[in-house]
Amino acid sequence: MRHESWKEKVVYQIFPRSFQDSNGDGNGDIPGIVSRLDYIRSIGVDTIWLGPVYESPRVDQGYDVSNQREIDPMMGTMEDWEELLRETHARGMELWMDLVLNHTSDEHRWFKRSRSSKDNPYRDYYIWRKGEKDGEPPNNWTSYLGGSAWTYDEATGEYYLHLYNKKQPDLNWDNPKVREEIQKMVRYWIDKGVNGFRLDAINVISKDSGLPDTSEQKMEGSGYKHFKNGPNVHEYLRELNEKAFSHKEGIITVGEASMVSMDDVARYTHPDRRELDMIFMMESPSIGNDPNDAFKSRDWKLTELKEIVTRWEKELLNIGWFGLFASNHDHPRMVSHFGNDGKYHAESAKMLATLVHTLWGTPFIYQGEEIGMTDYPFESIDQLDDQMARHYYRTRTEELGEDPEEVEKRVLAGTRDHARTPMQWDDGESAGFTTGEPWMPVNPNHASINAAAQENDPDSILNYYRKLIEIRREHAEVVVHGEYVPILEEHEQVFAYIRRNHKSQGLVLLNFSEKEAEFELPEDVGVCTESAYRLLGNYEPEGEDRERAGENGDTDAKADVVPRKLRPYEAIVFGGLKPAPGK
Ligand code: GLC
Repeated sequence: MRHESWKEKVVYQIFPRSFQDSNGDGNGDIPGIVSRLDYIRSIGVDTIWLGPVYESPRVDQGYDVSNQREIDPMMGTMEDWEELLRETHARGMELWMDLVLNHTSDEHRWFKRSRSSKDNPYRDYYIWRKGEKDGEPPNNWTSYLGGSAWTYDEATGEYYLHLYNKKQPDLNWDNPKVREEIQKMVRYWIDKGVNGFRLDAINVISKDSGLPDTSEQKMEGSGYKHFKNGPNVHEYLRELNEKAFSHKEGIITVGEASMVSMDDVARYTHPDRRELDMIFMMESPSIGNDPNDAFKSRDWKLTELKEIVTRWEKELLNIGWFGLFASNHDHPRMVSHFGNDGKYHAESAKMLATLVHTLWGTPFIYQGEEIGMTDYPFESIDQLDDQMARHYYRTRTEELGEDPEEVEKRVLAGTRDHARTPMQWDDGESAGFTTGEPWMPVNPNHASINAAAQENDPDSILNYYRKLIEIRREHAEVVVHGEYVPILEEHEQVFAYIRRNHKSQGLVLLNFSEKEAEFELPEDVGVCTESAYRLLGNYEPEGEDRERAGENGDTDAKADVVPRKLRPYEAIVFGGLKPAPGK
């Protein structure tokens, strides 16, 4: 079987405002990104997902778009964007844009017209309803920011729906004109030469007709049963695919869709259905979040994480496809949350990367992850830009009367702003991000954690990512396309699995804890480890392994012993395993 080569992609996500400033205004911009393309290429990725750069009042950092066809002046000009596209292509990489299709900004010309009168042709571009008696909103859904999902608009005496901020009104996808406008806009970018798209919040676009009340008692995002994976979402995506994505061959799409069953994922991504190419596996990065409270964390066990990963890897094999990530612009930094950003900073960052890059699925790297950027030491709510965090703080303290200190602690730990502090390029002032005043504070640890320092250190996190990606490419038949077989499923410290196809096999061993971990490989794993050789690890091989490791990194002749013990956060990838006799 010939495998689709797009599945071999490795994607780098840019959050434009925090990547590189070129004009000293303290905000990252498109020319800044152009100046860093060689760096991005050097990591080994082949695709860039560019966060939203469209015109936007920025109540939600560009996810509130006021004009989908223009570039925000803060980011540069259309010429700058065209140069970015050209220069990205010139380096053999592709460029994906972020599509925000569930809502627009309230400053979008469609919404301005829509709100101006009830009989305006744009009225039905959004979701307007009369209130209930006694000044109550049309239903009891709450927005993801807390509080009603409806805002009353004086001009016409009706409410409009917004699942996010009231400055982000939801589009009415049931209106065919809206869908046509969106298709046209997507074709506009495809004609400009874009290679793919990330689709923001795509599984909430279709709402249950009648917009019924919910029985859900959540402060944020209640009502989801009536809009997550809603009644017409698949029909609308197929149409969008047919009329827009299929406009040119080779356009790749990835959807942001949380709260999906395996059946949902298969529906979104099965190639025969022609909807999307992949959606993100969001279940694993959210494992530490309380499902009923956006900022409360919950304890989790490694066996739960393994269950999630195994379910996706096994149940979707050959029927769906998904994007893998451990960090993005909406989550605190991966190494601070899933690893250890102190004593085992480098070890745990590398271990987590090993997981993401050796699974079945498409790995995404979020800017700064490749140098192990950590959470920022925020001390007060006043330092935050994150609208979700600020709203949460306000509703919890003002409406629920929760202890402000407690709430602040929660918000400072969970805010998305940890991911949004400027990229740490060097140890200079403002980390080489800007010559001006950065829009978000630069993490003081840029003195030691920065790209320049890691560039020439062979043991750096950055160089580990480079090797990982190289290995993924070299062994694509197994690492990208092969089957995933979990082992040691009950182990609470070690995450271990085999990747294999009919010819070759690899073994991945990851210690998720800061303690040494002992284990016995099960006898029935079906592989013989005698011919195994180390492809990569985040520690020097120990004892016996070291003696056998040979010179020059030559892997052909050597056989390395698979250990029975892993050091704190140790990760090792073995290749060259053979099927056990009789298997
Ligand atoms: C997505 C984006 C997030 C944004 C939200 C609303 O979840 O990733 O940053 O706030 O959609 O557009």
